[in-house]
Amino acid sequence: MKALRNTRQDAGEMGGPGVESNRDFDFTSADFERIRALIHRRAGISLSDHKRDMAYSRLARRLRTLGIDSFREYLDQLEARNDATEWEAFTNALTTNLTAFFREAHHFPILADFVKRRGSNPVSVWCSAASTGEEPYSIAMTLVEALGDRAAREARVLATDLDTQVLAKADAGVYSFDQVKHLSPERLKRFFFKGTGSHSGLVKVRPELRAMIKFEQLNLTDADYGLRTTFDAIFCRNVMIYFDKPTQAQVLTRFEPLMKPDGLLFAGHSENFTYVTQAFRLRGQTVYELTRGAQANAAPRRANDAIGVPA
Ligand SMILES: C[S@@+](CC[C@H](N)C(=O)[O-])C[C@H]1O[C@@H](n2cnc3c(N)ncnc32)[C@H](O)[C@@H]1O
Repeated sequence: MKALRNTRQDAGEMGGPGVESNRDFDFTSADFERIRALIHRRAGISLSDHKRDMAYSRLARRLRTLGIDSFREYLDQLEARNDATEWEAFTNALTTNLTAFFREAHHFPILADFVKRRGSNPVSVWCSAASTGEEPYSIAMTLVEALGDRAAREARVLATDLDTQVLAKADAGVYSFDQVKHLSPERLKRFFFKGTGSHSGLVKVRPELRAMIKFEQLNLTDADYGLRTTFDAIFCRNVMIYFDKPTQAQVLTRFEPLMKPDGLLFAGHSENFTYVTQAFRLRGQTVYELTRGAQANAAPRRANDAIGVPA
């Protein structure tokens, strides 16, 4: 039964400013612990205590949509039925997708210099937590600006994420003016169409830029990513913070054979891989490269590389 909860215990436990004190559903500590365990198993995401409200409000929407009366029943059904669509909805609901064009802007000139000096043709970049697309489009814009239209058209940008909803948005390439307001007029003109009529206030990524990117679903905690190519650069920004240290170490181990020699790994501002692995060393501000030893270990696999992204 739906119960309207408005107790002090709820407000205190679920805690903090912006707490939704009127709850449609009971939400016990046991429910939250169960959600925590499930999302950790599915996506490697470690939900901290202060994510209780977030978990409640996002999953309560699923309960309403499905007409289910309690979290316990929802979670029972989720596990018993093992329905892929509901697991997807559960996972999508619990990811945090905050992103922006040219977020952590210092990385993009580094990428531009790197690909110009490298001359490896075609350049391949993997954006491994692409969210709604701002990051891979920023990478693609950087490649065009650094290499020119022709070379950039041959470049390959693989953009992956676990969350299928954000990937659909990324694939559409439609953004509000507000989201692109910090881009220079030159970039806006070169890379976007401006919406008119019922689309006013929106921009759409131009097809030439869109064509540089392949969007795919990929779970970074999967044992095998199914990728049969290597990358000049991997962007893995602002996703490792949601993983515990053992998960971070596993992901970095899987990245090793996917890096081209002297390739770069870009991390988020609060992510430090130095304490997690000895295979990567810090090269600049949150930019890593494989150590010589790790490069030597990864080399045999590279000899068997096939061309193409992804498998
Ligand atoms: C905060 S966003 C960061 C987006 C972008 N990298 C940036 O820095 O702006 C984190 C993204 O990681 C994705 N994510 C979470 N767990 C994941 C996993 N196990 N595998 C792949 N992507 C995951 C989320 O869906 C979300 O889109």
